[in-house]
Amino acid sequence: MATANLVTCFLSILLMMMLFSSSLAFINVVTLGAKPDGKTDATSSFLKAWTLACSSVNPQTIYIPTGNFLIKPAVFRGPCKNRMVVRIDGTLLAPSDYRVLGSSTNWLLFVKITGLSVIGGTLNAQGATYWACKNAGKSCPAGARSITFNYADNVVINGLTSINSQLTHVVINRCNNVMVKGVKIVAPDQSPNTDGIHVQFSSGVTITSSSIKTGDDCVSIGPGAKNLLIDRVSCGPGHGISIGSLGKGANEQGVQNVTVKNSVLTGTDNGLRIKSWARPSTGFVTGVLYRNIVMNKVKNPIIIDQNYCPSNNCPNQSSGVKIKEVTYQNIQGTSTTQVAVNFECSSSNPCRGIRLQGVKLTYVNGIATSSCSNAGGTAVGVNTLKSCL
Ligand SMILES: *[C@@H]1O[C@H](CO)[C@@H](O)[C@H](O)[C@H]1NC(C)=O
Ligand SMILES: *[C@@H]1O[C@H](CO)[C@@H](O)[C@H](O)[C@H]1NC(C)=O
Repeated sequence: MATANLVTCFLSILLMMMLFSSSLAFINVVTLGAKPDGKTDATSSFLKAWTLACSSVNPQTIYIPTGNFLIKPAVFRGPCKNRMVVRIDGTLLAPSDYRVLGSSTNWLLFVKITGLSVIGGTLNAQGATYWACKNAGKSCPAGARSITFNYADNVVINGLTSINSQLTHVVINRCNNVMVKGVKIVAPDQSPNTDGIHVQFSSGVTITSSSIKTGDDCVSIGPGAKNLLIDRVSCGPGHGISIGSLGKGANEQGVQNVTVKNSVLTGTDNGLRIKSWARPSTGFVTGVLYRNIVMNKVKNPIIIDQNYCPSNNCPNQSSGVKIKEVTYQNIQGTSTTQVAVNFECSSSNPCRGIRLQGVKLTYVNGIATSSCSNAGGTAVGVNTLKSCL
């Protein structure tokens, strides 16, 4: 009897020690009450885990095990005392009523954090009923992006999957030094405004080894993006990799030093696009390198469109956005329209320093052509289409 008691006592001390030591490094949302049943609201447990980890003087990993966790819109706010690590083996599921996310702009929002890793995980925003509302022309809420990083530095997003966002899947806004790696984005090609990854007012963002299939731009690059690298990304269906729309406002930051390389676009509306409003603006695009890109049946493989004005309220105006030093190097594959290269630049601010080097695009039904207005630059090396530059 005494021995049994002693053993029990010893075992419970051991168990407590294990729990204690693991809680030093790991905060499991399930131990804080989250239920992996996809039905019970787990938001408060997630926020509790965040607050504990964020205020801890010892580094803590927030752990989300396998299972489905129902999460309402949530803000994960810094600054934190340590680098934050969120490891997700499970799925975060949005409520099935689209209005719960739809009226809140962001589903998961990370703000003012220096040092953050989000590893693994699936986000399922269940956007289909929201798109159906929009497509039916009803009055719908403004919609939510699935995951947004605002004012965050030194961020790693590795191995995240995002499914069926209401609007943009991943937003990087006012951040520095962000690595997006091994991300998978999935939404139907007809889903409205479901951009894959949007980057703006941010420097030192890398997007690599990722696959994006969605209904709008795979990657969209907004004002104030600089030192951006996109490497080994596959895109399609979708609207391609797009700088813009820029120059909507009169006063706008420019886009500079963007590299897109070793990437494949399949069945997309656009391939490599730069787009600006036909309006006065202080905006600019300087220093873009597109290199080693494969196009598979892309509608507009290479396009600069500075006459964007969807509701025709830009009378006799032209884009103020100054585009210069854009290089297209080793771009191969097929176009589903004859004009594979289309530069429609601003009449008041012509494009300068456009460089075509090894652009080998073919039209699926014949010879591909290029079309230019207000575009200056050079074509060097072997290009299969006659350059209009
Ligand atoms: C341009 O951006 C790349 C990242 O893509 C960075 O390594 C490089 O230093 C930047 N160049 C300049 C001049 O800032
Ligand atoms: C636009 O320009 C055309 C030709 O220069 C002119 O006839 C027309 O009145 C202008 N429209 C506006 C709204 O300024």
